[in-house]
Amino acid sequence: MKAFVFLVVHQDCLLGRLYLKLSFFLYFANFGVKTVLFRKKEPILGTVILTDKCNLSCKHCSVNNIIAVIYPYVQIISEMKQLFDMGVRILFFCGGETFMWHDGEKTLRDLVIEAKEMGFLIVNTVTNGTFPIDLPEADLILLSLDGDKKKHNEIRGDTYDQIMKNIENATADNICFYMAINKINQGTIEDVCVAAKRLKNVRAVSFNFHTPYPGTKELALTREEKKNCCDTITRMMDNGVPVFNLKSAFPYLIDNRFPTPCYQCVVMESGKLSVCGRCIDVPGLCEKCGYFFVAEYTLLFSGNIRIIAEMLKTYLKYI
Ligand SMILES: C[S@@+](CC[C@H](N)C(=O)[O-])C[C@H]1O[C@@H](n2cnc3c(N)ncnc32)[C@H](O)[C@@H]1O
Ligand code: SF4
Ligand code: SF4
Repeated sequence: MKAFVFLVVHQDCLLGRLYLKLSFFLYFANFGVKTVLFRKKEPILGTVILTDKCNLSCKHCSVNNIIAVIYPYVQIISEMKQLFDMGVRILFFCGGETFMWHDGEKTLRDLVIEAKEMGFLIVNTVTNGTFPIDLPEADLILLSLDGDKKKHNEIRGDTYDQIMKNIENATADNICFYMAINKINQGTIEDVCVAAKRLKNVRAVSFNFHTPYPGTKELALTREEKKNCCDTITRMMDNGVPVFNLKSAFPYLIDNRFPTPCYQCVVMESGKLSVCGRCIDVPGLCEKCGYFFVAEYTLLFSGNIRIIAEMLKTYLKYI
């Protein structure tokens, strides 16, 4: 019996993966029904910030190297447990640069493995892709690619070629491009889509619009620009590019008319728990929020039928 259970839940075997997928969908469906029917505000998606240290200083970012601290292993594990006890089952690691995280012998990979053992059903990390990628246990590695080589490097410094090398040498095909679309790179959505389709270790691409944190307001897109971007993404999706976003959320994103904040998402940084994002305390920012996941989750949990149907289809495909 023990051997059977191990076989069933072991991620590397097909049966194990099916079992984990099914567990996730049952938990998610049950959570969704309760949240919609009883208007609950409990979280299911949690992010742990591992460090604010970063080797880059991208033009659009305002969370890097503020105190440049790598949070200790025991603290991270305790934050993960806290989130799990609150009901969170989708866990993200974020930073700063997550691959810079270590504590003695412990690395990001140990955290991912421990998160899985703790019972999180989906464990993802976000990275700038400049370090070697050996994280086969993660469900998705959201790797930030901000355009073609020229525009990406304009935003992120001379990193494009190194990132492409790291993707080629990655030890699993669990990478999903993550593009923050802004004034600089709005014309290069197609390039990121084409790269996602071409590279064997890249499973999909996911987008956000620039969120205008203080000091980065000039990078925000106008309504018309957002509409053009969504038209391009829709065209890419229709041409078979694997996009890990929901078309039915685009009209809400273009006009910023989705509910905020997202009560089903929480973020934990150095013992501080915030609803939705680290940006929750920035006055007036939520009305200009560009994060696609916020629109998708708040619409989903407000019972939007088109979003529910499209999310089911999309998650089944890419997770
Ligand atoms: C803060 S970074 C941390 C992880 C890692 N260092 C990276 O670059 O992927 C997480 C994601 O937030 C995005 N981001 C940063 N500033 C943003 C902004 N103002 N609006 C939208 N996304 C932003 C980044 O492009 C990246 O994809
Ligand atoms: S790599 Fe990530 S954390 Fe670092 S500056 Fe860029 S967006 Fe910010
Ligand atoms: S809704 Fe507000 S708190 Fe949530 S990610 Fe957007 S700006 Fe940040």
